[in-house]
Amino acid sequence: MSDLATRRRGTGRGGVRVEARAKLNLGLAVGPKRSDGYHDLVTVFQSITLSDTLVVKPRRRGFRLRVRHEDASWPRPETSSGAARATGPRIPVGPSNLVLRAARLVKTRWGFAGGADITLTKRIPAQAGLGGGSADAAAAIVALAKLHGRRTSRAERIALALELGSDVPFAITGGTAIGRGRGERLRRVRLVRPFRALVAMPRWHVSTAQAFARIDARKYGLTGWSAKLRSAQHLESEGITPGVALRLGNTFERVLGARSRDFESLRARLEACGLEHPTMTGSGSAVFGVVPAGIPFERMVARFEGAERLYAVKSAASAMRTTTIRVGGPEAGMQNAQPRESAGSTRFRASVRNRSRRGGRA
Ligand code: C5P
Repeated sequence: MSDLATRRRGTGRGGVRVEARAKLNLGLAVGPKRSDGYHDLVTVFQSITLSDTLVVKPRRRGFRLRVRHEDASWPRPETSSGAARATGPRIPVGPSNLVLRAARLVKTRWGFAGGADITLTKRIPAQAGLGGGSADAAAAIVALAKLHGRRTSRAERIALALELGSDVPFAITGGTAIGRGRGERLRRVRLVRPFRALVAMPRWHVSTAQAFARIDARKYGLTGWSAKLRSAQHLESEGITPGVALRLGNTFERVLGARSRDFESLRARLEACGLEHPTMTGSGSAVFGVVPAGIPFERMVARFEGAERLYAVKSAASAMRTTTIRVGGPEAGMQNAQPRESAGSTRFRASVRNRSRRGGRA
């Protein structure tokens, strides 16, 4: 099929814009290492309103990626100096970038003609346990399928996503889900009520592969694994609150080595400002706490002592929002990837962005 013919069939001929959301692991228990080198785990995934933006437009051939970084953290005097405000490790922009890997994979598997111009606006901190890279890869899969008018089944998208990383399947499906296996065996669960959280980002970062290796060295994956599996089974029937999900704990909190004291200090400072159950997300290094109902973010932020960047987020019921960009026209056709959007999260996200802009980001 010619490039033009393929594009004519597409639903987003002008382009597709995706808001790709970060995730939290409300609980995460790592189990034993498997024969394929990965670990079995059980986790409660939760999509949140902090997001990157991916804009994908048709291009005759080849994929071109531009990345810009935006600071979406809460503007605070403690983090206004250049060094503290820097947005953490920069992501690779070459062929190893997950968006480009996703684009090439989609093109070969689904046989698309032509390429794409891709612009990625990064707000989700990297190497934080917030699933930013996975969100971007999932967004690329969905955007390219939409651009080419390709209807794909959930199973097809998930299989492709898993080739890019263990967390990418959840970044396609989103909402609240229990993940098993490598994290790809997903079961959607009921979040009892939406919640708000403050995410704190230390200046140090964690390599996921090394963190898993440290769990092996200490044999933590074997400790209480069957009890954790039983606990996850209860979660499925009960409905999820962050407090209940925390029964799983987070195995990665135990293998921080020299960073343990920094983590414990951050956890204590988050607790001291009244945040509930401060916990590490993924393999870290970000730590989040739930904001008690009725207390404004401002009050929590004002109480916090420390130079860590803080992100005000809300639970979201879907992984992404896609918008079709019409040829020569304004963006139109706002759609939810999943129909169950939690009320108010869009408005909330917009207000965070506006405030951040006033805070003078790039
Ligand atoms: O799948 P992903 O590329 O995100 O994983 C990064 C690394 O984390 C893997 O190379 C592997 O070492 C480790 N990992 C694991 N078990 C999992 C997920 C990831 O050992 N369930």
